[in-house]
Parts: sequence; structure tokens; C-alpha cells
Amino acid sequence: MAEVLHTRKELAAAREATAGPVGVVMTMGALHAGHEALLRAARERAGHVIVTIFVNPLQFGPNEDFDRYPRTLDSDLEICRRAGVDVVFAPSVSEMYPEGRPAVRLDPGPLGEDLEGLSRPGFFHGVLTVVMKLLQLTRPDLAFFGEKDFQQLTLVRRMVRDLDVPTEVVGVPTVREPDGLAMSSRNRYLSAEQRRAALSLSAALRAGAAAAERGEDAGTVLAAAHRAFDVPDARLDYLVLTDTELEPGPVAGPARLLIAAWVGATRLIDNTAIHLA
Ligand code: PAJ
Repeated sequence: MAEVLHTRKELAAAREATAGPVGVVMTMGALHAGHEALLRAARERAGHVIVTIFVNPLQFGPNEDFDRYPRTLDSDLEICRRAGVDVVFAPSVSEMYPEGRPAVRLDPGPLGEDLEGLSRPGFFHGVLTVVMKLLQLTRPDLAFFGEKDFQQLTLVRRMVRDLDVPTEVVGVPTVREPDGLAMSSRNRYLSAEQRRAALSLSAALRAGAAAAERGEDAGTVLAAAHRAFDVPDARLDYLVLTDTELEPGPVAGPARLLIAAWVGATRLIDNTAIHLA
């Protein structure tokens, strides 16, 4: 049975009593099969698995969905129990930020201002600050992050490298619905019609990947992805081809194709690996 802890003091005591490799999976709850893949990866590689559940106000903009973000602690705990999680850390906002918004925050650097950062100013400052706090509180050997949020994964890897955090960051492939839609806690905001429109994100990525497999160049790959996205009910935010570190403009070899779009009031993201000839 997973132990459910709400305070930093309880977590510190539980962590002190733990030996062997510790793995952490950080989440905002509303757990789905994508999160479960992270839990499984952690269970396989770590003797002791800690899951954090915390909807982090610092990473939400003033007009974003912090208040209506789904909070489903009971079913989250059931999923954690089934996955063999040892400890669930589910602190309140005042437990994490007892003095309100922290005066000192992590600067994600130039990549933090691009892509997601362009549409969501301050987002990655908030993400990296809470990830660093949770790394300090859980002191894991391994930390698992989904490729679904590829820019987040890239920035966490970069932070760990730049700031000498003694944790190995492990990336876990994106889990999709059978029709291709990447699993996301925000999918539950979509109406049936919007859910159909949302399929155009993964369709665009598949079209781009297929063009790359045929040996097409970067421009043709992007054009194929754009053509596949062309639906009236979704509004494109960005569709870009980068190198695997999210630096712009690869011309050959391993690359990443990333997309963000609005479907109604819901902003969705997805990405895929691409290999340019
Ligand atoms: P959240 O959106 O809850 O995601 C938690 C973790 O699950 C992230 O590493 C995310 O990439 C991964 N994940 C989500 N959907 C996935 C899918 N379909 N397949 C594989 N992995 C998936 O990301 C956050 O929370 C927050 O920013 C957090 C890191 C917890 C900091 O607040």
C-alpha cells in the first residue's frame, strides 16, 4: 500500500528511512495511462518509487486553467497503489510555498523563452523551480519524465547537467490513445467534436514522419505535416522541425517535429522523433 504524505517533514522522515535506488515520478495528478507508463518505468529501474502529485500554481499564467485543472486524488491514489508505488507526496500549495511565490526562481535560459515559453511566458521558470524543489525534497537517484512534454524533458535534463544535480533523468515514450491522440489530463476538456479535431495534431506528426521515411528533405517534411493539419476546428500555434536538443534547423539525421494547437479553449501539444536522410 502506498504511503500518502502531505508534509515536507513526513517526506523527509520517510526518505531518511529509505535505502537503495529511489525513483521519482513528478505529476500534477489526474493520472492516466501516460503517467502509468512512467510509474512502470520507475518500478522497473528503482527499488523505491516516490510519486509527487502537486498542481503547481507557479507554472500557470493568470488566464490559464489552474482553478479548473482536474483534481482526482482518490483515483490517482488507486492507480499508484495498483502500480506498486511506495510513497505518494501530495502537498498543499502552502506546504510547498509557505511564504507565497518564491522570490528566487530558476531561469530556464533561451530555450525556456521559445516554443511553449513563447505562448506561456514564465511557464518554464515555474516548472523548473518546482522540479528543483521536488528533487531536493525527494533526493532521487532517477527521475522519470515523459517525451510527451519534450521541451520540459529537455530543459530538466539541461538543468540537471548545468546545476550538477546528482539524479539521472530518464525519458519515457509518449503513450497514445488507439487513434493516435497523445494522452493528456487536458483531453477531458474536449467535446466529442473537438476530440476529432484534436486528432489532427498526431496526424500532422505522422505525415511528417512518413515524408522523412520516404527520404524527403526538411522543407518537404514540414510541408507534409502542415497539409495534414489543415482542419477548421483547430488553430495552429507552432509546427517546427528542430534538432534533438530543440535547437532550430536540422538538415540531416535525428530530429524532432513538435506541434502545439488550440482546439476550442484547450491548448494541446505533441511531438515525434524524425530521421532526416
Ligand atoms: P503532468 O502534466 O501531470 O505530467 C507528469 C509527467 O507525465 C510528465 O513527465 C509528462 O511528460 C508525463 N506525461 C504526460 N502525458 C504523457 C503521455 N501521454 N505519455 C508519456 N508521458 C506523459 O508535466 C507536468 O505534470 C508538470 O509540469 C510537472 C513536471 C509535474 C511539474 O509541475
